[in-house]
Amino acid sequence: MPDIVFEDVSFAYDQIPVLKNVSFQIETGEYIGVIGPNGGGKTTALKLMLGFLSPQKGSILILGKSPGKMCPRVGYVPQINAYDKQFPISVLEVVLTGSLFKVGFWGTIPAEEKRRAHDLLAEVGLQGFEERPFGSLSGGQAQKALIARALMCDPQILLLDEPTANIDTRSEAAIFAYLQKLKGEKTILIVMHNFDAIMKNTERVLCFQHEVSSIKPEEVCKHLTIGMYHSPGGHSRD
Ligand SMILES: Nc1ncnc2c1ncn2[C@@H]1O[C@H](COP(=O)(O)OP(=O)(O)O)[C@@H](O)[C@H]1O
Ligand SMILES: [Mg+2]
Repeated sequence: MPDIVFEDVSFAYDQIPVLKNVSFQIETGEYIGVIGPNGGGKTTALKLMLGFLSPQKGSILILGKSPGKMCPRVGYVPQINAYDKQFPISVLEVVLTGSLFKVGFWGTIPAEEKRRAHDLLAEVGLQGFEERPFGSLSGGQAQKALIARALMCDPQILLLDEPTANIDTRSEAAIFAYLQKLKGEKTILIVMHNFDAIMKNTERVLCFQHEVSSIKPEEVCKHLTIGMYHSPGGHSRD
């Protein structure tokens, strides 16, 4: 059974169609790059996988169950601009929100969860940043903290929505190096616009443009030159 199955899925916000008759499957351990123009439905597809939204038509199975039911086994790194960086919360606290479902009745966080949060911060290269305000981190550091947060529940599936947008190339390389370590162990979907990095790192590419096509990483450029993913103003980053 594949980890992720979309079968003839259609989704619209009110009357605005975003995904149309989308079918694809993702096997355990695959490392998938997700591309497509701004507004093509990439973030919407991730929210459908998480069960934050429900399709009007078709079916979605995540680890064999309806989306949402497998929540603790799906780690999510949201688009950073959707995250309120002004929220007064420490880096450690941000990471701990990744296992909120384990918080005790009195709001106590088990010691092992705190240890795990410290360990994950060290793994992503943020040792010593635990007590810093989340809002004081650079874009790349904030992304690393959100990746640590997504890994708190030891997910089988890791969904990353543009974790490398607006960060420097060194942080981007560090994030890809870290994801390489998880490769094969976890099923990874990463939304991004850096085609060079997609070709170097991922094994398969899903292109979202209201419909979905599956291509090989080395076909990304050819795919673009035949005009699949072009808007009149050229493609824009979101
Ligand atoms: N909450 C929402 N309500 C209404 N329309 C939305 C909402 N979120 C996204 N959209 C619209 O749906 C389309 C797809 O958005 P999205 O999935 O965010 O695309 P992408 O992540 O590929 O840029 C866009 O036209 C966007 O404006
Ligand atoms: Mg998006």
